[in-house]
Amino acid sequence: MTKSLLKIENISVAYGNIIALRNVSLTVAEGEIVSLIGANGAGKSTLLKSIVGLVPLSEGSIYYSDKNLANLQTFKLAEMGISLVPEGRRVFSDLTVEENLDMGAFSVKDEKLINKRKQDMYDFFPILGVRRKQKTRFLSGGEQQMMAVARALMSNPNLLLLDEPGLGLAPLVIQDIFSKIKQINKENNVTILLVEQNALMALRNSDRGFVMENGNLVLEGDSVSLLNNQKVRNAYLGE
Ligand SMILES: Nc1ncnc2c1ncn2[C@@H]1O[C@H](COP(=O)(O)OP(=O)(O)OP(=O)(O)O)[C@@H](O)[C@H]1O
Ligand SMILES: [Mg+2]
Repeated sequence: MTKSLLKIENISVAYGNIIALRNVSLTVAEGEIVSLIGANGAGKSTLLKSIVGLVPLSEGSIYYSDKNLANLQTFKLAEMGISLVPEGRRVFSDLTVEENLDMGAFSVKDEKLINKRKQDMYDFFPILGVRRKQKTRFLSGGEQQMMAVARALMSNPNLLLLDEPGLGLAPLVIQDIFSKIKQINKENNVTILLVEQNALMALRNSDRGFVMENGNLVLEGDSVSLLNNQKVRNAYLGE
């Protein structure tokens, strides 16, 4: 059995009186693409934020390569190899593409290495190379999403957390993004935890999946069986 890279054990998270996650447990093995699907407000983003220390746990623990992540700050997690692409892309729109990529390399000190990684990103996402001196606000939604992914890759992560990479994009653009995500996983051996409301794309492009409802995980399995599961088909695939 492959080693688990991320292990989430019985975590709960609350925002004041609102309980956003209840007793959630989930593991991601090295090399996998795991998807987490669920409706609006299910708690998907909260789960990713809890991994990178942006929201405190009220219960439970999170381990990365057997290290407990409790009380570690987000920059420390980047150094350890965890990188988040937040929901809504959150690009710095007044900065150029190149400056955004520099921001993603904040934990890297070696200038030569930063330049090499930027060049790797321009090779992998050629449109970013073409637009590298342009302010990000002038990029299309799909290009901004590519840039958000490239920025997250600048720290050379082992674990990439993606929050709704397909949000608000046209179907063909979503396909492009997902094929890049698979390439990053296969060619660079980056383990991926992917959150999506677009259950079809998420399950088609992942190895295993989890379904979240109202802060609880209610179903899990390999992605093919979830795609064929009648409950999933009714609730998330519009059948
Ligand atoms: N900062 C916050 N303060 C208070 N409540 C919050 C906060 N962030 C999220 N919530 C609530 O926590 C619950 C889970 O939210 P979360 O953003 O994790 O859901 P989600 O599954 O990512 O939804 P979406 O698909 O819309 O992005 C929701 O009820 C939401 O209203
Ligand atoms: Mg969300």
